Amino acid sequence: MTFPIVRHRRLRQSAAIRGMVRETVLTVDDLIQPIFVTYGSGVRNEISSMPGVFHFSLDTLEQEVKEIVDLGIPAVLLFGIPESKDSVGTPAFIDNGIVQEATRKIKSLYPDLLVVADTCLCEFTDHGHCGMVHTFERDGHVCGDVLNDESLELLVRTAVSQAKAGADIIAPSNMMDGFVQAIRSGLDEAGFNYIPIMSYSVKYASAFYGPFREAADSAPQFGDRKTYQMDPANAREALREAESDVLEGADMLMVKPALAFMDIIRMLRDQFDLPLVAYNVSGEYSMVKAAAQNGWINERAIVMEMLLGMKRAGADIIITYFAKDVARWLRSDR
Ligand code: PBG
Repeated sequence: MTFPIVRHRRLRQSAAIRGMVRETVLTVDDLIQPIFVTYGSGVRNEISSMPGVFHFSLDTLEQEVKEIVDLGIPAVLLFGIPESKDSVGTPAFIDNGIVQEATRKIKSLYPDLLVVADTCLCEFTDHGHCGMVHTFERDGHVCGDVLNDESLELLVRTAVSQAKAGADIIAPSNMMDGFVQAIRSGLDEAGFNYIPIMSYSVKYASAFYGPFREAADSAPQFGDRKTYQMDPANAREALREAESDVLEGADMLMVKPALAFMDIIRMLRDQFDLPLVAYNVSGEYSMVKAAAQNGWINERAIVMEMLLGMKRAGADIIITYFAKDVARWLRSDR
């Protein structure tokens, strides 16, 4: 009796043989840790909807960044919570803005740690939109249009001020048309032609950003982001978004969120040769944390499986609030 000839289990017999035939690996080099920075001193406030994620002031940031460096994580992504906001997001592009100050501090302490600056206005505008808005009243409700070309100029100023402060990578996330081209020219004219752009090319209008908006105090005060972020129903449109970013000079492409959009990660991987980033967003983090705190899932196993899935789908780099945990787990595995 020779049946079955093909036996898949032959290559699953031991940890050693499974290791030898493993197709995808996740390493600490793939990870980017997001950090929320704010004013004040001695601040280390946990974000209630994101257990284990904190707001740091510039002084407490030091210890956090030391841990990140000690764990071998190559990059951080900075988000700022300013002291005050206005209609055009001025605190995003002033020289002593919170992201600029945090960047200077981190680069002076750890010149080799890559600082990625999220270039957007929503954390800095009083209306919470990612650009300049034209507001009007309709049926007694405040409405508004987010102005595309007018917003580009503010984004360029933001990106240039971040590069001046020492940011290594500029990551525009606001989904205005032409943002990569505008920022590329702005950076080049300011003498930063060597600074890469990691474009949030395919960013969906997603409910998975809920906890982040609490963390960054950036929920839109009227309307939603559907006129600039993408419709989760669309895949072909994702290719067009990515293609225009490539033509405009993006150095890396991103898909965000990740978990519900693995097909989009795979599509971009197959169509483009640029490094591809997956953003494991706040809601994806909080769901896992909540289930883990209830004892319903094995947090470590779930996180590793999710991130491995993103890499298998085609991501080269993963932005995740779990980065420190993952770095620790990878270390203890060795
Ligand atoms: C800024 C920005 C957002 C996120 C990253 N950059 C919020 C948004 O678009 O509403 C979300 C990140 C997360 O949910 O973890 N535009």
